[in-house]
Amino acid sequence: MTHPPPPLGTPAVRSEARDKVTGAARYAVEHTPPGCAYAVPVPATVARGRVTAVHAEEVLALPGVHAVLSHENAPRLKEPDDPTLAVLQNDRVPHRGWYVALVVADTPENASAAAEALRVEYAAEEHDVRLTADHPGLYTPQEANSEVPAVRERGDFDAAYPAAAVRVDATYTMSALHNHPMEPHASTAWWDDGHLTARDSSQGSTKVRDTLAQVFGLEQGQVTVVSEHVGGGFGSKGTPRPQVVLAAMAARHTGRPVKLALPRRQLAAVVGHRAPTVQRVRLGAGADGVITALAHEVVTQTSTVKEFVEQAAVPARVMYTSPHSRTSHQVVALDVPSPSWMRAPGEASGMYALESAMDELAVATGLDPVELRLRNDPDTEPDSGKPFSSRHLAECLRDGARRFGWDRRDPRPGIRREGDLLLGTGVAAATYPVLISPSAATAHAAPDGTYVIRVNATDIGTGARTVLAQIAADVLGAPLESVRVEIGSSDLPAAPLAGGSSGTASWGWSVHKACALLAERLERYDGVPAEGLTAAADTEPEVAEDSPYARHAFGAQFAEVQADTVTGEVRVRRLLGVYAAGRILNPRTARSQFIGAMAMGIGMALTEESTMDPAFGDFAEHDLASYHVPSCADVPAIEAYWIDEDDPHLNPMGSKGIGEIGIVGTAAAIANAVHHATGARLRDLPLTPDKVLPYLDPAS
Ligand code: MOS
Repeated sequence: MTHPPPPLGTPAVRSEARDKVTGAARYAVEHTPPGCAYAVPVPATVARGRVTAVHAEEVLALPGVHAVLSHENAPRLKEPDDPTLAVLQNDRVPHRGWYVALVVADTPENASAAAEALRVEYAAEEHDVRLTADHPGLYTPQEANSEVPAVRERGDFDAAYPAAAVRVDATYTMSALHNHPMEPHASTAWWDDGHLTARDSSQGSTKVRDTLAQVFGLEQGQVTVVSEHVGGGFGSKGTPRPQVVLAAMAARHTGRPVKLALPRRQLAAVVGHRAPTVQRVRLGAGADGVITALAHEVVTQTSTVKEFVEQAAVPARVMYTSPHSRTSHQVVALDVPSPSWMRAPGEASGMYALESAMDELAVATGLDPVELRLRNDPDTEPDSGKPFSSRHLAECLRDGARRFGWDRRDPRPGIRREGDLLLGTGVAAATYPVLISPSAATAHAAPDGTYVIRVNATDIGTGARTVLAQIAADVLGAPLESVRVEIGSSDLPAAPLAGGSSGTASWGWSVHKACALLAERLERYDGVPAEGLTAAADTEPEVAEDSPYARHAFGAQFAEVQADTVTGEVRVRRLLGVYAAGRILNPRTARSQFIGAMAMGIGMALTEESTMDPAFGDFAEHDLASYHVPSCADVPAIEAYWIDEDDPHLNPMGSKGIGEIGIVGTAAAIANAVHHATGARLRDLPLTPDKVLPYLDPAS
């Protein structure tokens, strides 16, 4: 008997690829139940205040309008855990863009026209939307995002820093950023005999189901949420968002199915943003470059609706030798939209600052920046003292340097010219924690030799179906084609969201466990009984166990840039990353994750920016023309490689997350390359031409 190749670790093509490129794959609002109506929300046009009048009667007379919902008549919700979901419940306007009404009509055009026409009156109040490092409202929170302590101190930074032979003290700033997935946040919802069904564009429909049940006072069994195909999220769909609550409210109010796709121009105010940060980093080191004192102090903003603190100082607790350390966060609640998760929240922003400061320390000590990082590679996690389950940062740096041709680099800045262009190269390190959540799954063997795996995973463009089929086929010793994977509905076994780079580890573990149980039973039965055989698993007990290890993925990025001395435009010419992220389960889809996140890092470094307008209290960029996500022309040949890592302390697959680490470090590598190219140390992202040009001299 011949055996098929083991399915895990092979570059299987994603199973829904054909459906996606032929348009057969249907997204949340590509289903039109009979009698479907269309809803368009109305955003507040003041930055703070109260709604004093909603002139619903005027637009109810317009063609096709079924209803106008506002705090005056909308269904009452039970208070949600997430206060951004308490929509149309009272007259308060906490920020510009907060929804104050919802118009429902027979066509999308009529709904849009009526929403535009709706007159809302406000009692406006003074607003404050300016984040400054000395804002009087700054306070130290208990925790930052991901439930980490806001402040950690080790040793005596205040004594060690002044005593250091070499010191770097630099402050880095970043504008707000927005996730802007291709598919906007969208839902189709309907009620049928007390049962609420929603097709929602979400990263995790189990959580959406639980939230809808809670706010509408239903049993979980009375709600079904389907997220079959999702056009990206990058964290902005990681939590339930207003569109699904509004669609369900409108469907209940009108007695019809209701479709609601948030207009792109409204997204910036209602689905989260990466909060702007002001980050001061101080590094004290010996002449040998070994760090003796490290402080990373972060100032950021949240809204008055809820507290969200971008945990940017957290990677400094993981990365480098630092006997004396202070890592802290301060936050101020402004009249701005609520910030939230955006790809590698904390690590992406924090590693921009830390890895830029490391480059400045390399210059200050005269050491090569790769060598400097190798000298500060710790044996145990500095903050916890725990051993690493695996840490191959040094290998990533060395392998990346070799592939990139780093040894030919002349460290002197501002000396490589090609016509009007200045050229330079930069390096930065990356890290992302290993996160795993409990998940349930079932595995079924049919008498015809096929298998069905059921788990409420979500595929947001990553290849979740494919890799879960690979895991199942591997455990069952079955060909990949014999495994069908059902995901994307809350009626399936409960599972966590596609977020925190934890999906494959979390869902995969439960699939692995269910398949192992099934295989055991099949052996006992000596084959599949006539009615088939099913095994169910839940990984709660395994995942709850505390690991004695510090578990993180690591990586290194190398960038080559050109800065145009005439226009100030910076372009990336080469970008190369090497990652150590456990066992890579599917090299094809993994590579796509790495290079996608690196492309997002190019945006963070050079083009993406959400500017807060202080007068109107609004993010100025409302579309993909003004908020420039890298397009093909901005993205050079990106290369991603990985180190084969064998780590037995993670999960049965031996995998770490790979969705987010690619963006971490990329912006710093590019900014460091800009310094090498131009000799100017620019510490405010993004590095747009207006910021760069004043430092460039075309005549020299
Ligand atoms: Mo990611 S920002 O955790 O979806």
